[in-house]
Amino acid sequence: MYYKSNLHKKILTKNKILYLIKKYKTPIWIYNADIIIKQIKKLKKFDIVRFAQKSCSNIHILKLMKKYNIKVDAVSLGEIKRALIAGFKPKNNNIVFTSDILEDEVLEKVIKYNIPVNAGSIDMLKKIGKTSPKHPVWIRINPKFGDGHHIKTNTGGENSKHGIWNPKQALSIIKKYHLNLIGLHIHIGSGVNEKNLYKVCNAMKKYSIQLNEKIQFISAGGGLNIPYKPEDKEINIDNYFEKWNETKKIISSILNCPIELEIEPGRFLVGQSGILVAQVYSVKKMGKNTFVILNAGFNDLMRPILYSSYHKISVLHINKKNKKNSPTIKCIIAGPLCESGDIFTFKKKGLIFYRNIPKVYPGDYIIIHDTGAYGASMSSNYNSRPLIPEILYKKNKFKLIRRRQKIKEMLNLETSI
Ligand code: LLP
Repeated sequence: MYYKSNLHKKILTKNKILYLIKKYKTPIWIYNADIIIKQIKKLKKFDIVRFAQKSCSNIHILKLMKKYNIKVDAVSLGEIKRALIAGFKPKNNNIVFTSDILEDEVLEKVIKYNIPVNAGSIDMLKKIGKTSPKHPVWIRINPKFGDGHHIKTNTGGENSKHGIWNPKQALSIIKKYHLNLIGLHIHIGSGVNEKNLYKVCNAMKKYSIQLNEKIQFISAGGGLNIPYKPEDKEINIDNYFEKWNETKKIISSILNCPIELEIEPGRFLVGQSGILVAQVYSVKKMGKNTFVILNAGFNDLMRPILYSSYHKISVLHINKKNKKNSPTIKCIIAGPLCESGDIFTFKKKGLIFYRNIPKVYPGDYIIIHDTGAYGASMSSNYNSRPLIPEILYKKNKFKLIRRRQKIKEMLNLETSI
């Protein structure tokens, strides 16, 4: 069995992947722009779609988003710079800075470019108010409940550090410093479905009415989940939009001002577009367990070790003989890092689990699917392993959009002092 998925049909064929492997070696990330574009189109009813670039912050991906009129969110100075380099003009609310703190260097940049600040703390509002009165701001509200695919990605309620607990207090600071309140934002977590939709929309209504200020935007946040497991269902976007659109209309009529509805997804736009290709280097028996060890580890893809996330895994055999004599094996798929937790197959709660895959041999390749979101962007240099290449398939061509980091470059921070 080699790489098969309806989403990537005819594009990421075995031969094309083998060609890329020959050219760039492994491990590599490959993204398919057609899938990103398809996902963008699903959200076309929303007035504004803002890409949460933390999910996949490569400048070339940002350029693609811009081409399709997607706006962008930035959560650090680095992300602001990425957005500017990708060509986002910091006017018309194109870039919004969202955080719970405002570091000095960020403050300087948001003032310089008049980038709206989506404030997740009262301290942020005070800081921007003292330095840049009239600055455009959003209030990021913590609605006192949250959701997410994992407790670590739930951003609401008192166990979350995110957002403002008391929006009225935020408003009084906004008034004190004559800041320009342009929007209200609620993001309850990452990896959400329609379960809390009604509740979130109601919360947005409640806070908009309570604050009773003429705003230009409401944001439904991001967090839309994607199907990772075969049994996972796609989120019903039409329903999602309808509920939010109704909410927008009600708020707009109560506040008596036009309002634009914004959504801020990361994973939904890029998750399914990406795969991670790695090579099998060892297949070893440890008592009753078989470990398949790859040349990609949790320094590349952190989601499994961090959240016990499931990613579909398939096999690309290097020769027909391997493929033919390929009974299924029950194995644990692991990376090369010097750490026992360097495993890609976990059960919920972090227990190591098995995956049934066609029998593999050293030299074969493994494909880890749906890794376009929070794959490359969360990679690290742990075990002093360099960042790996990213390749984008677009307009019938594969383009290298990040080359492999050289070990020398990695060490340069220490050797060049
Ligand atoms: N908006 C805000 C304010 C956020 O904090 C996030 C994600 C998003 C939008 C986008 O969420 P998305 O649509 O991508 O789910 N590393 C985790 C996800 C952490 C998300 C952090 N914030 C993962 O791999 O699942």
